[in-house]
Amino acid sequence: MAKSLIAGNWKMHGTAASAAAIAGELAKRWNNQNSVEMIVFPPFVHLTSVAEAVGGSDVAVGGQNLCQFESGAYTGEVSAAMLADMGCQYVLVGHSERRALFGETNETVAEKFKAAQQAGLIPVLCVGESLQQRQQKQTLEIVAQQISAVTEPVALQDLCRAVIAYEPVWAIGTGETATPEQAQEVHGAIRAQLGDAGRETTLLYGGSVNPSNAVELFAQPDINGGLVGGASLKADDFLNIAQQLIEQE
Ligand code: PGA
Repeated sequence: MAKSLIAGNWKMHGTAASAAAIAGELAKRWNNQNSVEMIVFPPFVHLTSVAEAVGGSDVAVGGQNLCQFESGAYTGEVSAAMLADMGCQYVLVGHSERRALFGETNETVAEKFKAAQQAGLIPVLCVGESLQQRQQKQTLEIVAQQISAVTEPVALQDLCRAVIAYEPVWAIGTGETATPEQAQEVHGAIRAQLGDAGRETTLLYGGSVNPSNAVELFAQPDINGGLVGGASLKADDFLNIAQQLIEQE
């Protein structure tokens, strides 16, 4: 059985105080006796205060990005080892905003994925098609390419130990969600691409997940949880979504 997971991507929002306040609230109200794991991805500069706020609780912390290089003259970058040192267990790799706005290619994403695993972090590999690609019926092909780009430098086995988040670009931050059928179609194709080794890989759906649409998405057989952006900035909404995942267990 794949592990169920609910993840909050806070993007570039909040202050040290507001980040610590949400994290503190989650830490107080969440326990994973239901075997659903919760992770929050704050901005780098808030990692210390968030890690402190969730310390000793069942809430894990991750970075939103990492540098593909180990260390050196890379001004403005943050390495996998630095994230691990701050208490991160996870890191997002290849989020569509990184791909679209910061020029990350499939190749860079694959290098980052490898760097994360080498430092002992669990990468959450984000994949997904643009609206134009969906309209041109290229969704499955694009997602398959984004995944196989990673299996070139890392073994399939290693990819299967990671988390994969399917996030259609047109559904991110737009209030427009993939239908459960659209999401399941892609999740099923990802699972098939991973083969036997992928039976236990956690596959998340992301893109405007909120308390009203979570239940039907989580009911799909190949969806093991959610990567939540906007709705994860409110502890009540995020906990509500997490509760809906528990109810699917
Ligand atoms: P959203 O973001 O839930 O605000 O659409 C999801 C994401 O980008 O991870």
